[in-house]
Amino acid sequence: MNLAHQIEQYLPGSLLELVKDINAQAAGRGERVYLVGGIVRDLLLGVPSLRSGSGLRFDLDLVVTGDAVKLARQVAATSRAKLLAHHRFCTAKLRYDSFTLDLATARKETYDKPGALPTVTPGILKDDLIRRDFSINAMAISLAADDYGELIDPHQGRNDLEDRLIRVLHSGSFSDDATRILRAVRYEQRLDFELEAQTAQLLKQNIPMLDTISGDRIRHELELIFKEEQPEFVIRRLDELGALPRISPFLKGEGWIADKFDRARRIKKPGQLSSLYFCLLVYPSQQEEIEQLLVHLNVPTGLSRAVRDTLRLKASLHLLDKSSLKPSEVCYLLQEYDPLAIQANAIASESPVVQRHLQLFLTKLRFVRTSLNGEELKRLGIPAGPEMGKILQALHRARLDGEIKTRRDEETLALALRDARQRPRDR
Ligand code: CTP
Repeated sequence: MNLAHQIEQYLPGSLLELVKDINAQAAGRGERVYLVGGIVRDLLLGVPSLRSGSGLRFDLDLVVTGDAVKLARQVAATSRAKLLAHHRFCTAKLRYDSFTLDLATARKETYDKPGALPTVTPGILKDDLIRRDFSINAMAISLAADDYGELIDPHQGRNDLEDRLIRVLHSGSFSDDATRILRAVRYEQRLDFELEAQTAQLLKQNIPMLDTISGDRIRHELELIFKEEQPEFVIRRLDELGALPRISPFLKGEGWIADKFDRARRIKKPGQLSSLYFCLLVYPSQQEEIEQLLVHLNVPTGLSRAVRDTLRLKASLHLLDKSSLKPSEVCYLLQEYDPLAIQANAIASESPVVQRHLQLFLTKLRFVRTSLNGEELKRLGIPAGPEMGKILQALHRARLDGEIKTRRDEETLALALRDARQRPRDR
């Protein structure tokens, strides 16, 4: 099957030109270049290969029957790309403004033990395709001049695309690399495919192999899931298959998540959703239950703090469930929490009063400042120290509650407070 015409239609002009240039440079070195993986799958499906989570960039994989790092270096020297080379894996990344190219030396992989990163040795295209996760991701398209556009499909990926099936290439696939359990479900849900019968059986048998994967790799897969258009379907299915509880017995994927993730999407831009999804995913748990998970997944400090704050605030939400609260009271109850934690609680809480207070804080109260600062209070004769702190806080509260509006109002109130504090001492 020749896909030359489809390539020309599918790739944006500038990317196509670049790919052809890379091929020409490879040919000059006596090497061949192939498009592989997701791009081939998506091209055959006729769906866009852009992921919203990656900032709508084309992320294209190329396999080279030669030294990919050297070729990438040569290409980078003649184009405006940032080069990132991984000598251990014989791969290189070329980053351009609107696309990224991953070049890999056609390779054989062996796994020293389940879950470990593979040992890589140079190979031919066939070796490179058989080491891959699923048949639909194990196809290549030649870019070489003599067979430009030719589909190489040794594992019947095209049939599986037609039958809408996710199929592993061999029975050891999930035990070699248990992240494929998470990947299989991600593709199944994204594409609305099914797990092929034997693949489904192998997947279920290998759920315990998730324990062989490092926390960092599991976290990375969760991040990829959160980049999907509707990650809640992936989470729910992982729960159903027993993979989610294997990652943490406290994570749940049932109906609650779907509604909350949907609300999250309505208020956050795609690029900012991942952390909010994470806070919502752990929301039904207690803080003590989630500590171990945060450590195991090596969650970055900022997000860990937001997650802890989410659960701490959840435990104090009843304090905000009073419609008589003044804005200043709302503000002082919430100001120590990470805004992401407040956002997660605003989505998760069922109480309209709590939601209103949380939204008020996020959209307005947290930005309210006094016009006067410490220096200006000094000029009004208020000495630095705890007294000044109290006056500044009183000004802030009065501003929040709308009792004062202008700088003039603040000065008047500050002087009145100063006098009121001095009077008992004067007597
Ligand atoms: N791959 C694999 N096993 C993994 C990860 C990746 O075999 N654990 C292979 C697959 O052939 C995959 C390719 O590497 O197609 C590229 O991986 P990745 O960029 O993660 O996925 P894409 O196929 O590009 O799919 P998408 O970005 O659409 O999820």
